[in-house]
Amino acid sequence: MSGIVVVGSANIDQVLRVERIPSPGETVLSHGLSTALGGKGQNQAVAAARAGVATTFIGAVGADGFGEMVRAGLSCDAIDVSHLKTTDKPTGTALIAVDGTGENTIIVEAGANTDVANLTNDDVAAISSASALVMQLEIPRDTVTEAARIARAAGTQVILNAAPIQVLPRELLDNVDVLIVNEHEAAELARDNDLAPELEGLGERLLALIPTVIVTLGSKGASLHREGSQPVMVPAHRVTAVDATGAGDTFCGAFAAGLVEGMEADDALRFAGAAASISVENHGAVPSIPYREAIETRLKESVN
Ligand code: ATP
Ligand code: RIB
Repeated sequence: MSGIVVVGSANIDQVLRVERIPSPGETVLSHGLSTALGGKGQNQAVAAARAGVATTFIGAVGADGFGEMVRAGLSCDAIDVSHLKTTDKPTGTALIAVDGTGENTIIVEAGANTDVANLTNDDVAAISSASALVMQLEIPRDTVTEAARIARAAGTQVILNAAPIQVLPRELLDNVDVLIVNEHEAAELARDNDLAPELEGLGERLLALIPTVIVTLGSKGASLHREGSQPVMVPAHRVTAVDATGAGDTFCGAFAAGLVEGMEADDALRFAGAAASISVENHGAVPSIPYREAIETRLKESVN
């Protein structure tokens, strides 16, 4: 078994830079529009590949120029695109506004990502021979559930980034080894499963659902929770944030890469935090994802 398989979304991000995010009914002027590769699945695959692990992407794009951009971009990062389908829906698109503090709001039109379904025999073989399967929730939930079941049966480690959050079926939860969520997603998941949603102790309470839970906390860092172990808190590197888009994805892809390389979970958490801290210093999702060397350099710097 080797490498990482990502089953997930690929989008083209249309990013507008604004002084502040508009309230409902309000119009604001943008001071810059850029088009970049994104989508949680694509971002996580690129993060794993740039961290140095052989990566395969299972997803779908449209028969359009954006689909070609996605295919070319993934290939450029040496990601195996032989499982990337082309369908008759347009390539997924995200409209993103980023404000002066680096915070964002995102609206996603899933497009071709809704066609990530009916895993083929080749897809099943790829998942079954991987060390880890990494997924998010921008593709049909049934596909995520099916892929997790296939991975569990084959002994492939299942890492789920439950974003954007939605109700997760028991069958999916039962086949996930590592859950990665931000505080908002963690609270929603707790609420959906009749657990107390208060932030204090949330990661520990989610262990009732999944044996390893990571809660990302933005500029505060991330916490690791495991059955039978004390929680581990890793503070974030202090950086000047210009754009948080894809920070969570960079974290997930780099964390998976660390685990697959054989790092202990807490070391993989530090590795992921270093990678994510670099991504917030730069604009865009895929364009801001760091390569291995930059992550190693950041790791040598003290957190504060
Ligand atoms: P996004 O949706 O913006 O991709 P997220 O909400 O899924 O992100 P966050 O918890 O905001 O995830 O961030 C993920 C990780 O990125 C954090 O655990 C941290 O390691 C790093 N990070 C995020 N923001 C900052 C920041 N301002 N400074 C340093 N590191 C950061
Ligand atoms: O997590 C960031 C990503 O969310 C963006 O790249 C956007 O495409 C949406 O999927």
